[in-house]
Amino acid sequence: MSAVIEAWGLVKKYREVIALDGLDLTVPEGSILGLLGPNGAGKTTAVSILTTLLEPDAGTARVAGIDVLASPHEVRKRIGLSGQNAAVDEHLTGFENLDMIGRPVSARAQPSRSRARIVGS
Ligand SMILES: Nc1ncnc2c1ncn2[C@@H]1O[C@H](COP(=O)(O)OP(=O)(O)OP(=O)(O)O)[C@@H](O)[C@H]1O
Ligand SMILES: [Mg+2]
Repeated sequence: MSAVIEAWGLVKKYREVIALDGLDLTVPEGSILGLLGPNGAGKTTAVSILTTLLEPDAGTARVAGIDVLASPHEVRKRIGLSGQNAAVDEHLTGFENLDMIGRPVSARAQPSRSRARIVGS
C-alpha cells in the first residue's frame, strides 16, 4: 500500500524555540494517524506544515503524492482540515464535526457521512 503522507526532515523554528527538529513521517493510505505528545511538542506545527498553512525552515513533505511546498494548492484540493477550536466544536461529536467539514467538499451528504464514520465514530 502506498504512503498518503510522507515527510522528510521537517524543521520549524520560532526564534529560539525549535518546534520541529527533523520530523520524518510515513503514513500508509487508508490508515488513521494519531499525533500524541505533551503541550508544545510540535503537533500543531506538524499538521500546519502538512496542510500547507505553514512552510518549514527545512525538509519537505508529500501529501497524496504532491509536494506541499511546490504545489500547495493541489494539496488543498485533496484534503480537508477540521480545527479543534471551531465555534461549534464542543456541541458536536467527532463524527458530526467531520461530517460538517466534509459536506462542502463532497457536495453530497452520503459520501461525507461515510468517510466521517470511518474516522469519527
Ligand atoms: N506562532 C508561534 N510563535 C512562536 N512560538 C510558537 C508559535 N507556534 C508555536 N510555537 C511554539 O512552538 C512549540 C510547538 O508548538 P505547537 O503548537 O506545534 O505544539 P503542540 O504539540 O500542538 O502543543 P499543544 O498540545 O499545546 O497543542 C511550542 O514551544 C510553542 O510555544
Ligand atoms: Mg496543538
